[in-house]
Amino acid sequence: MTMSPQEVIHNLGDLPPLPRVATRVIRISAASETSSEELQNLIRTDQALTAQVLKIANSALFGRVREVTTLTQAILTLGFSTARSVVLASSVKNLFTRGPVGLQERILWEHALVTALTGSAFSQAMAFPQTEEVFLAGLVHDIGKSVLALKFPDHYGTLLRRIKEQGGDGLTLELEAFGFDHATVGEALLRSWNIAPGIEAVVRWHHDPLQASPDHRRLVALVALGNQMAIDIQVGFGGPDTLARATRAALDILGLDDATYQEARTSALGALERDKALIADF
Ligand SMILES: [Fe+2]
Ligand SMILES: [Fe+2]
Repeated sequence: MTMSPQEVIHNLGDLPPLPRVATRVIRISAASETSSEELQNLIRTDQALTAQVLKIANSALFGRVREVTTLTQAILTLGFSTARSVVLASSVKNLFTRGPVGLQERILWEHALVTALTGSAFSQAMAFPQTEEVFLAGLVHDIGKSVLALKFPDHYGTLLRRIKEQGGDGLTLELEAFGFDHATVGEALLRSWNIAPGIEAVVRWHHDPLQASPDHRRLVALVALGNQMAIDIQVGFGGPDTLARATRAALDILGLDDATYQEARTSALGALERDKALIADF
């Protein structure tokens, strides 16, 4: 028997709010004509973020000849979608670094970032239209783990170490230890943020995509595959085999055969290194 989100909140007490910048950047849609200007204004409210975006736009990755000195140029150089991802990742990262930042928080953050990047690169390779949603959902899919790490640093820290060293099914171990798992904790948190039902579905069902409502199933499946790719390259906790069922379900939902999956997977992992260098260095 798993607890309802209300019961989880009752057990955990206060939950962290969604960072202000993230709330605002989610509302800026790529479809709007003024979106680039809105994104600029948002970045400008935060000095550290402004410096960071300029630094990334000037990085060797973009092979600039002339120095980028204004936010307008920076967003043009990066492209709207990358600039938005950089801002989202940078503001969401705060959620991973609330407690004492040790090895485990760093692994949770890296796992979130790699899931977001591979999941969205995969969507792009397959020409699925939800790339940006996959990025955000990937960033927060395991946010329940960060809440557990924040609320029960010793107990959950020991459990994560055990999973890293000996493997095992994290969800079951969490359930045994706390009476709820990171998916239900994450669902409770997302409900309190009230951002998008699709993202909430990803957080709740990324280990069991067929349980998601038909409206959100494809999004959940894409993040489940990003999660699998991150674990395959050993960024995160748990062994690849624990995800086998979720991955099979995801491929079914998306109607992909193994050969197509492998091809898009290779291209997503290929794109990873540059993107990771772009965003991880905050
Ligand atoms: Fe998870
Ligand atoms: Fe994960």
